[in-house]
Amino acid sequence: MKTHYFLLIIALLGYALPAAAASQRIDPSVEHGAVTFNERCSLCHGNLGMGDGILPRLIKDYPNTNLRADNKPADAGSIREAIIYGYEKGLLDNRMPPYGDELTWLEIESLVLFLRLYFHDVDRAIGLLTTTKKPETPRHEKGRAIYMGRCILCHGENGDGKGKMAKIINSPPPFNFEYSRLPDEMLLDIITRGGDAVGRSPKMPRFGDELSESDIRSLILYIKGFRK
Ligand code: HEC
Ligand code: HEC
Repeated sequence: MKTHYFLLIIALLGYALPAAAASQRIDPSVEHGAVTFNERCSLCHGNLGMGDGILPRLIKDYPNTNLRADNKPADAGSIREAIIYGYEKGLLDNRMPPYGDELTWLEIESLVLFLRLYFHDVDRAIGLLTTTKKPETPRHEKGRAIYMGRCILCHGENGDGKGKMAKIINSPPPFNFEYSRLPDEMLLDIITRGGDAVGRSPKMPRFGDELSESDIRSLILYIKGFRK
């Protein structure tokens, strides 16, 4: 008798859980795309997609990352392909990273919607970039999200200084955070004002213009997690 009840409960859970998950499914949206763009793409494409990101300003002869330039694709297929494959298929410059293995389906489809809007109605898209609030997340999570978009390409996924850009940023290479021992206030200073301002390499960009102090404190919490 008892086994029957047990099986019944399992069977009910089997129906109830997927149903609950499905009802919480979030669909791709331009708003979500704007948040993702801000977190993941502005390092190169700039806060408003105009190509004035930190990397193009830092590195000589960087290719044009202005999404408003005429030759940029406007159809969903080519935008999706640019995001998923980046340089992998040899069609784009090798400084456009592939995102297929890093972003979720929801993020990619939301970015496609957002960029389509950007190419067709740039005023509305820019409006979203400047007004869309980032969802409230715990500070460590927030630090991680910013890290993924603005630091990982140099400092690497594991903070070991071996990001995709590390091959062109050397002497000194991006710092290996496993060995970082600076106190918080000095970390805040170098991230806010950049390497140059604190007597370190100018290849460490300044982020004070685009990140708030609270963003940077979340980042500090996150990068200290890499310490050994
Ligand atoms: C490390 C710098 C960098 C980052 C980060 C980056 N891009 Fe790019 N992106 C580029 C460069 C460089 C080009 C120009 C490629 C070319 O013209 O061959 C480009 C081009 C593009 C294009 C146009 C492709 C075409 O056919 O002309 C799209 C769309 C694009 N990026 C979307 C994104 C999105 C969305 C993100 C964030 C998920 C992103 N990029 C993040 C550097 C970057
Ligand atoms: C373009 C590549 C590049 C990007 C992007 C970058 N960094 Fe750096 N960073 C460097 C380099 C190079 C150094 C080493 C500077 C030196 O040793 O003089 C460095 C050093 C640092 C240091 C000093 C660590 C210590 O203990 O001395 C901190 C902290 C730091 N980066 C944080 C960040 C954060 C946070 C981000 C993202 C918001 C970031 N960096 C993005 C290149 C980069």
